[in-house]
Amino acid sequence: MRNFEYWNPTRLFFGRGETDRVGQECRKYGERVLLAYGGGSIKKTGLYDRIVRRLQEAGCSVTELSGIQPNPRLSKVREGVEICRREKVEVVLAVGGGSVIDTAKIVAAGVCYDGDPWDFFTGKSVPERKLPLGTVLTLAATGSEMNRNAVITNDETQEKLVVKNPVLFPDFSILDPENTFTVPKDHTVYGIVDMMAHVFEQYFHPVPETPLQDRLAESIMKTIIEYTPRVLENPKDYDARATIMWCGTLALNHLIEAGLTGDWATHRMELELSGVYDIPHGAGLAILFPQWMEYVLPLIPKKFAQFAERVWDIPRGNRSDEDLGRAGIERTRQWFREIGAPTRLREVGIGEERLEEMAERVAKRGPIGSVKVLTKEDILTIYRRSL
Ligand code: NZQ
Ligand code: ZN
Repeated sequence: MRNFEYWNPTRLFFGRGETDRVGQECRKYGERVLLAYGGGSIKKTGLYDRIVRRLQEAGCSVTELSGIQPNPRLSKVREGVEICRREKVEVVLAVGGGSVIDTAKIVAAGVCYDGDPWDFFTGKSVPERKLPLGTVLTLAATGSEMNRNAVITNDETQEKLVVKNPVLFPDFSILDPENTFTVPKDHTVYGIVDMMAHVFEQYFHPVPETPLQDRLAESIMKTIIEYTPRVLENPKDYDARATIMWCGTLALNHLIEAGLTGDWATHRMELELSGVYDIPHGAGLAILFPQWMEYVLPLIPKKFAQFAERVWDIPRGNRSDEDLGRAGIERTRQWFREIGAPTRLREVGIGEERLEEMAERVAKRGPIGSVKVLTKEDILTIYRRSL
């Protein structure tokens, strides 16, 4: 196990009815609130009215940043920064999924920075402060509600990049599972793939002797597998939605990566796909992950065998680690198909055309992967096998 520092300052309010706290929690940080949200689902579900009412009751004034799209854009971030400056906003409140929360994070940090917020992504600058930030999560997926990451796409260059900085932890997040009852089936599935992929990234790594981290990761994976059919069959099954929501947060709130170095190559390869082709992040991950797993299987066969046995309950028989591991990978691919995720690039409209250019861009951004540092050729091979 490696040395680590673990710090997570986000205050969580989890459960039915917790949404109604939103006014009082925001008011603790200030009076003028920027309400950030997406394409309108919160208006359809009534959540918008409920939140505005609670904010007003608490004495807050509300300005809006609306229309944040999935795979959120830098132009929207810039718009949000301008609004905050003009309206002298004191608190940013994100109501939505990862796209809305990530936008709100960079708006909140961008207001406190003199230059362009894209500088945070290129390494030209690092966020040093941000406005207070609260979130009301409506889609279980990214973990952004309790982590220090944000992912934004540059409209002009189609680069989709991530920034990781402790400044970006939300101050509080409200996780009311009832707010996820209306998530449509496709986005429920993409969210589930994403949280599962976050666990994979931190489970398959080269650091020896991480038994507790392994078992934490395995229990999250097994719980996701057990509860996915329930949320898909009955989207209003409270305990199933609550369980999946908590899995999503724990999958990427830095707990399970303590003491190890996650791989994250598949995420880096995926962000390139969803940046260029605007596909849902979870769809790209379901396609790439089994291919990456097969590619690196010979390097850590024991870990893949453990995955097959402990997560998928596949009996060893007289198989080698590698053969057992391969059966676990095949089961993972089959599970993605069963729950309705794509497993081929062509299914989401991606062909050979830009694969080389994308592999080059990913490789150029610096070392990628901890199980195996992937070269441009490795990345291209994985993309091609995913066609
Ligand atoms: O925009 P609206 O109308 O709200 O609709 C959204 C959107 O179309 C809809 N939705 C959300 N909650 C709903 C709902 N529809 C009905 N009822 C509800 N309760 O769902 C659609 C997708 O929303 P989005 O926020 O894009 O999904 P997700 O939470 O999966 O976020 C994906 C983004 O997060 C990034 C991804 O790359 C992608 O850009 N990631 C962020 C991470 C982080 N900050 O830590 C890590 C991840 O690995 C990931 O990269
Ligand atoms: Zn992800």
